[in-house]
Amino acid sequence: MIVAIASQKGGTGKTTTSISLAAGLARRGKKTLLIDVDSQANSSKVLLTDYSKIPVQQTVHTTILERQTLPIHHTTLPNLDMAPAHILLSNTDIALTTALDHREARLKDALDEVKNQYDFVFIDCPPALSWLTINAFTAADKVLVVVAPGYFELDSLVQISKSISEVREYFNAGLEVLGFLFTMSEPTINTQTSIQILRQTYRGQVINTIIPRNTDIKDAHMNKQDIFAFNPKSKAALAYDKLIAELFHL
Ligand SMILES: Nc1ncnc2c1ncn2[C@@H]1O[C@H](COP(=O)(O)OP(=O)(O)OP(=O)(O)O)[C@@H](O)[C@H]1O
Ligand SMILES: [Mg+2]
Repeated sequence: MIVAIASQKGGTGKTTTSISLAAGLARRGKKTLLIDVDSQANSSKVLLTDYSKIPVQQTVHTTILERQTLPIHHTTLPNLDMAPAHILLSNTDIALTTALDHREARLKDALDEVKNQYDFVFIDCPPALSWLTINAFTAADKVLVVVAPGYFELDSLVQISKSISEVREYFNAGLEVLGFLFTMSEPTINTQTSIQILRQTYRGQVINTIIPRNTDIKDAHMNKQDIFAFNPKSKAALAYDKLIAELFHL
């Protein structure tokens, strides 16, 4: 199963969710690949200890711009591989806008070559509806939309829903919404109201498991660890465990 993890708004927890789902499934013995298509390369920097030494030719930049095979790196976690991002991905949108070939399918074409080797593939998307996100949606079976509490966060869902529909229409008819995942939940009125609006608007599509705001997440990233390695008893680790059980029945 190939899952794109996306939101148009920045800082909603896409990267944290990508790392946690990928690491959690790898720990359950599932062969998992995490593809980072965000030029910020946040998930690459957490999971690949030698990230700073990786040349641009060994990142997805070469897949997207030069149509090369996916550069796959092993992480320190057994069963977890990673195709890292590069800062130069920030320039690819301009190149793709003027490309005349199937610019939406570059990631899909490369992923088709290796996807049989994996039980799960996750794609950590940038916080924009760029050609990189369209590449992720074209390659994916499902999209997991990550939502943090707040008016702007909820407002951005209209746009991402529209983009999913457009990709379905033009590039990938089978694309499904895996669900809307509410993250960074706090015991506040803002959180309560946001969840209520989300459930009313996207009835039946909102995932029951809610990820709490938990400082262990930031500490885990600081230590270049996934949340299960850093503190398996933390509230966030328990929530992501519950999410894996709910989504994948594992
Ligand atoms: N559940 C959580 N509790 C506390 N902090 C969190 C939680 N999830 C993520 N964070 C922190 O919030 C920040 C944003 O999270 P993250 O990088 O996962 O979001 P993102 O959607 O990938 O951001 P971007 O849009 O920039 O790619 C990070 O510093 C991360 O460590
Ligand atoms: Mg991110």
